[in-house]
Parts: sequence; C-alpha cells; structure tokens
Amino acid sequence: MDSDRKYFDVKKSIMSSRFQNTLAIETSCDETSVAWVARVNGNLKVVKNIVASQIPIHQKTRGVVPEVAAREHVKIIIPLIQKIFYSMGIPESISVTRGPGLLPSLLIGCETGKALALAWDRPLIAVNHCEAHVLSNWIDPPAPHFPSLCLLVSGGHSEFIVVKKFGAYDRIGKTRDDAAGEAFDKVAALLSLPYPGGPSVSQCALNGNPKAFHFPEPMVYAKNFDLSFSGLKTAVRNEVELLKKPLSQQTTSDLCASFQRAVVNVLVKKTLRAGAELNIRSILLCGGVAANESLRAELIRNIRNELPGALFKAPAFRYCTDNAAMIGAAALLAGNRMRNIFELRVDPNWELHGK
Ligand code: KG4
Ligand code: ZN
Repeated sequence: MDSDRKYFDVKKSIMSSRFQNTLAIETSCDETSVAWVARVNGNLKVVKNIVASQIPIHQKTRGVVPEVAAREHVKIIIPLIQKIFYSMGIPESISVTRGPGLLPSLLIGCETGKALALAWDRPLIAVNHCEAHVLSNWIDPPAPHFPSLCLLVSGGHSEFIVVKKFGAYDRIGKTRDDAAGEAFDKVAALLSLPYPGGPSVSQCALNGNPKAFHFPEPMVYAKNFDLSFSGLKTAVRNEVELLKKPLSQQTTSDLCASFQRAVVNVLVKKTLRAGAELNIRSILLCGGVAANESLRAELIRNIRNELPGALFKAPAFRYCTDNAAMIGAAALLAGNRMRNIFELRVDPNWELHGK
C-alpha cells in the first residue's frame, strides 16, 4: 500500500461497469423493497427506493417468522414493482438479493426477478446482501478510498470486512455467536421493549446512565477481530433477574444505556485497532445497527483522535436498514455475477468471498 498508483480508481470503475441502470429487488428478511438505481455522470443516483416494512406484523411475535415474512413479500412485491415500472419503464438490468437471508423470503425476490428478466428479456444480476450493505457507503459522495475497513453490524451479521476493491473482500473477523442487532433485539425482549430492539433500546438509553451497570465487553482484548455478544446478553438477563420487579422506567433506561455502552465500546475499540494495524484509508459502517447514533458518534470522535488520516463514513439512515437501493448500487458497482436466469438459485448462507 505504498503507492497511490496501487489504489483502485473508484470513479473509473463506476464508469466501467456495464449497465446504466438497474431495477433492484430486496426480500432477504422482513423488508420488501424495490429501487431504481442509475449511473449519472459517473456517479450513482438512487432515482427511486421504496421500502415496505413488515415491522408491525413481526412485533406481535417479537421476531421474524420466515413463513409469515414470505407471505407478506408475496402480497406487496408486484404492486411495488408496478409503481416503479409505471414511472420509469423497462430497466437495462434487473438485480436481486440471492443471499444470505431467510430462504422463503429470498425465494420470493429471486423468482420475481427471474420472471421479470424473462418477460423483459433483460440480464439478471445476483447480489450478495452483505456486499450490498458494504457498498451502500458508495451511494452518496464522497466515495471512500481503498483499502477500506467496513464494520457490518446488522440483525444477522457482525463482521469486519476489508474492501480491497469492488468485488474483492477479506473478512478479518466475525461474531462467534449472536450478531450485534440480534443482541439489541434480545435485550429489548428481556426488558419488554418493542421489536425491533435497536431503535427501542437506543431510545430508552437516552434517559439512562451508561455507568449504572458494569457489563462485560466481550473479546475486546482478544488479539483477533472476532466478536461475541451472547455473553453480554446473558449478563443483562442475570442482572435483570436480581432486580426488584416491576423494573422502574429509570432502571430500564440505565440497563439500556449500560448495555449499549458495552456494545459500542467493543465495536469502537476493535475498529480502531484494525484500522491502525491494517493501514486503512477509510473506515466504513453499515447494516441496521449503523443507524445507532451513539455508535456513529463514538466512531467519529475516536477515529478523529486516533486515526486522523482515515475518512469515516456511514450511509444515510435510510440506507442502513435493509433496502433495495443498496442492492442496485452493488449491482452497478460490482455486478459481474450475471446469471443464466434458469440457473439462479438462492443461497441462504452465501458467504462474501474475497478475490
Ligand atoms: O440490516 P438490517 O435491516 O437487517 C439485517 O440484514 O439483519 O438490520 C436490522 C437490525 C435489527 O436487529 C435492529 O434491531 C437493528 O438492526 N437496528 C439497530 C438500530 N436500528 C436498527 N440497532 C441499534 N441501534 C439502532 N438505532
Ligand atoms: Zn441487512
């Protein structure tokens, strides 16, 4: 990494990808989303991005029941596509999440994408959901420089990914058990706060004292870049069991603030260490937990102090949680995985491989 010439030219690669626009479909979990993403003067432009959330439905079960999610995708996907088609017409390409995600949910998006590709005689681009979260950082300027270190934190994933260039990734660490978002969801359930847990726990934490309880910061001093959140969730459960019921509003807020502080501390410390050790030029955040204001603020503050040469970037809030705009962006930036539509199969465990 000693010469600027070795860095991948972001703008050139945006230009060199084949298609000028794509109609993108995302149905990997509990958001049905369709977008139109185009390339305008060498930059990406999200022309339309519609997200139909299933949150009210899954609130009843405090989590996503895969069959229920798939049934909801079926109901809404065609009306969403119609909305975009009526204003934009037929796209140059269709892009769809092939995995990772929930099998029944992925199937709805993939089969819909195949039908459109066949009917419109357009190529179909298979997109990895994790890659799309990472590349959501390229939707709005400035374009981060390579090599980037991306902290992907969502309901299903918590990983450190080095982005060498579009399509070439090294996963240097991941959670050994629960994902960060999953931990927020489980702590919310423990405290009888609404699903999804991230927004409700972080909202409740605003009125709490982050030092009221001392929760562990798992794996913070481990030499690797792996993470673990299951023990932290258990520590919160053990603490709740010792407390007098019903919990007061203040105690609930203190528990939320102390839990959030532990998660944020682990993520920030490990990000800083990886950034310094790997000589990283830009540090990126993505996934649903990237919407967490405390995590963003602490990353900004610490990177400014300890890695002043590195750019920090996180997507706009609307591109943190699942959305089709990021699927379209990934298709246009790294979309060299065109599929024969009859061969495309969903892959619920599709790993983001390096090249
Ligand atoms: O990326 P995403 O929409 O779906 C997956 O790919 O998993 O992430 C959803 C996760 C949920 O676990 C949710 O609780 C979490 O992101 N989340 C947050 C916040 N907003 C959403 N976690 C912490 N703080 C938030 N503000
Ligand atoms: Zn996601």
